[in-house]
Amino acid sequence: MTTATQRRLEIPEPRHAKQTELHPELNRAHVRFVGLGKTYDGKQGPVAALHGIDLAIQRGEVFGIIGRSGAGKSSLIRTINRLEQPTSGRVLIDQVDIGEFDEDRLVALRRRIGMIFQHFNLMSAKTVWQNVELPLKVAGVPKEKRDQKVRELLELVGLQAKHKAYPAQLSGGQKQRVGIARALVHDPAILLCDEATSALDPETTQSILGLLREINQRLGLTIILITHEMAVIREICDRVVVLEHGRIVEQGPVWEVFGNPQHDVSKTLLAPLQHALPPELQSRLRAQPQSAEDAVVLRLQFTGAAGDEPDIAALFGALGGRVRLLQGGVERIQGHALGQLLLSVTGSSLTAEELQQRAGRWAQQVEVLGYVV
Ligand SMILES: Nc1ncnc2c1ncn2[C@@H]1O[C@H](COP(=O)(O)OP(=O)(O)O)[C@@H](O)[C@H]1O
Ligand SMILES: [Mg+2]
Repeated sequence: MTTATQRRLEIPEPRHAKQTELHPELNRAHVRFVGLGKTYDGKQGPVAALHGIDLAIQRGEVFGIIGRSGAGKSSLIRTINRLEQPTSGRVLIDQVDIGEFDEDRLVALRRRIGMIFQHFNLMSAKTVWQNVELPLKVAGVPKEKRDQKVRELLELVGLQAKHKAYPAQLSGGQKQRVGIARALVHDPAILLCDEATSALDPETTQSILGLLREINQRLGLTIILITHEMAVIREICDRVVVLEHGRIVEQGPVWEVFGNPQHDVSKTLLAPLQHALPPELQSRLRAQPQSAEDAVVLRLQFTGAAGDEPDIAALFGALGGRVRLLQGGVERIQGHALGQLLLSVTGSSLTAEELQQRAGRWAQQVEVLGYVV
């Protein structure tokens, strides 16, 4: 490909005249959805997958999208490289509306946006090397440049030694590394990940997430990541949006959404990360006290700056009586302390409601789970 053609295919610079009208945050947005809607022509009539999505993703962010199956996550990210055409609204990349792109500009756009998938989508009859090389061949990149790029990327993903292997000879994690290398051949600015770790075991997931983090930091890529695994979001995302029935129901920094989820869907999705009551205690839990000697079981959740964790002695003292720690801990997300404590209180002069109120001085959320004999 000549330089002239390459230049023609490049996505034009943002139109600065329009930017001045925008809020500075939107001004800098790498990807922006404006009133985006998507309706499919399903076999049994129209299927509304997305409604009025307004969202701005910043350059260099690792941005998470969560939601139940069918919420519209894949539909949403597939509008970014126009694998799906929106029914209404717009998608802007670097402030440029991609809706009007012709074939040439779409080809260029798709090269600037890499994508990886749950099932890797590798060519089984091609080697690792050939799989990574293929998009470069299709783009007409000369052999010498192809070789250099493939070598560089296989080194980045740690697969130099496997370059002659076929996909069937690789583990899931290795296959996804090939997928990642292939997604990066055109030096994209954005990497889309649709359930990229969902077919992997936890340990392999960790190593792939580590690689994605490295790519984000070293190459400065914006990563937009769909997952149903909350632990993945917690591990690498900066911000997260929760989708339900094609609408945004919650969004914010991960520590904020995880520390204090507002919407029922977010709470449900995050429930697996919560400390559950031990089963034997759960089975003894009653909604109403049987006698004054019963223990009140409380769940406390707090979110705060690191170093600002609750003073446990003061908390226990304020509750009075005998306080036992049943379960709990503090974890760090993005430098914030998120904590959960399950406590039982016996022999306090305070009622359950009073205990709840007192504990509220140390925690954002306090629930009375019930009573145990
Ligand atoms: N090609 C399609 N034709 C018809 N309906 C579709 C198509 N793709 C997705 N849908 C529907 O759109 C909704 C959102 O799907 P999807 O974006 O795949 O959700 P998610 O990725 O969150 O599971 C679902 O109801 C799904 O059945
Ligand atoms: Mg999906």
